[in-house]
Amino acid sequence: EGNKLWGGRFSGSTDPIMEMLNASISYDQRLAEVDIQGSMAYAKALEKSGILSKMELEKILGGLDKISEEWSKGVFGVIQTDEDIHTANERRLKELIGDVAGKLHTGRSRNDQVVTDLKLFMKNSLSIISTHLLRLIETLVERAAIEIDVILPGYTHLQKAQPIRWSQFLLSHAVALTRDSERLGEVKRRINVLPLGSGALAGNPLGIDRELLCSELDFASISLNSMDAVSERDFVVEFLSAATLLMIHLSKMAEDLIIYSTSEFGFLTLSDAYSTGSSLMPQKKNPDSLELIRSKAGRVCGFWGCPGLAAILMVLKGLPSTYNKDLQEDKEAVFDVIDTLNAVLQVATGVISTLQINKESMERALSPEMLATDLAHYLVRKGMPFRQAHVASGKAVQLAETKGITVNHLSLEEMQNISPLFGSDVAQVFSVLSSVEQYTAAGGTAKSSVSAQIEQLRELLKRL
Ligand code: ARG
Repeated sequence: EGNKLWGGRFSGSTDPIMEMLNASISYDQRLAEVDIQGSMAYAKALEKSGILSKMELEKILGGLDKISEEWSKGVFGVIQTDEDIHTANERRLKELIGDVAGKLHTGRSRNDQVVTDLKLFMKNSLSIISTHLLRLIETLVERAAIEIDVILPGYTHLQKAQPIRWSQFLLSHAVALTRDSERLGEVKRRINVLPLGSGALAGNPLGIDRELLCSELDFASISLNSMDAVSERDFVVEFLSAATLLMIHLSKMAEDLIIYSTSEFGFLTLSDAYSTGSSLMPQKKNPDSLELIRSKAGRVCGFWGCPGLAAILMVLKGLPSTYNKDLQEDKEAVFDVIDTLNAVLQVATGVISTLQINKESMERALSPEMLATDLAHYLVRKGMPFRQAHVASGKAVQLAETKGITVNHLSLEEMQNISPLFGSDVAQVFSVLSSVEQYTAAGGTAKSSVSAQIEQLRELLKRL
């Protein structure tokens, strides 16, 4: 029992299975580096408040440096009694520098320590995730700029709706991801409040300089209330929720691309780097990358007992104030989601930058019926109220259908029987290019509007 951080009032030993259930070292050792950073800052604050002498501080910092080196070289030896990362690092410190190590935890609790560690860890991870996310948005935007002249069917209800630019499709996903990027930025702001110096729940009785801790650990401000600081995991929920929404956007994009990559659509081909084959059917090339992105969205949300958003909400629901051991469950969800996002974002960028589009298939899929809305707008421009124009255009589509031809092959006479406003210039309606070029209002699919979107996104990317 000698290594426990809390053994003093105990005479009996812990049940071995209870010990196993209690231990978090198997996963929280990922906090090793940030735990040491936190301890270094705390040691400096202890010296400032007179708890440590200059020499004691030097000894502690030296020991912590050595431990950090051991972790980074992969030679730190975790032992059976290391309950968690905080216990392990302090145990090692004592081995290295002796009893003075026992002064480090003065006025500190693992309760303010662990939440500080988690925030430090997430600060680092979120910058990496944001960088990957920005690269993905950039890839979509730059691809949109290059392929701006490609036109394909746009769908609602997965039924052919109206012709759009391929770039309008790419940008629709880019725009959703910019909101995710902004949300992650918001989460970062909330993470950036330092809990250290809150103790177990009541605060710090040794006049610790929390502003010093704040600047040492590069936080933006210090927490306002010690009881809230040790118990709130809002930032975990917010991160997991922003991550879930991000993944749902990626899942939607993946689903679109999976459909477009079928031979029935034939709009695009994934590169070999992001496809896999079948062990049985030699001809198969499957879009596994996109399917994994789609399924990981469920994982991040917390399906099937996966550590994710739903899981952490269940942990928090019904907890009383301050620290409760339930909170130990927060870390696996955070780690798992961070790892998932890192992988998924890079794969998504790879998929988008390497897929090949098939313009001919896209063109072939553009049927004249998709211009029925434009046919109605033709009549509107001749003065007919839209509701009547909608009926007239619908009649033309129906007549063509009964004759077994496409609507652009009706004769002018047949058209004029439906409405005398149809003139010989109606033929111009049946051009997909002039169709998309009508949509010049901001946000639309005309070339000028798409170009403007690209410019705005490029500007936004500089600020994200
Ligand atoms: N391993 C614990 C966690 O991850 C550290 C905090 C333990 N605090 C306590 N009072 N038992 O949450």
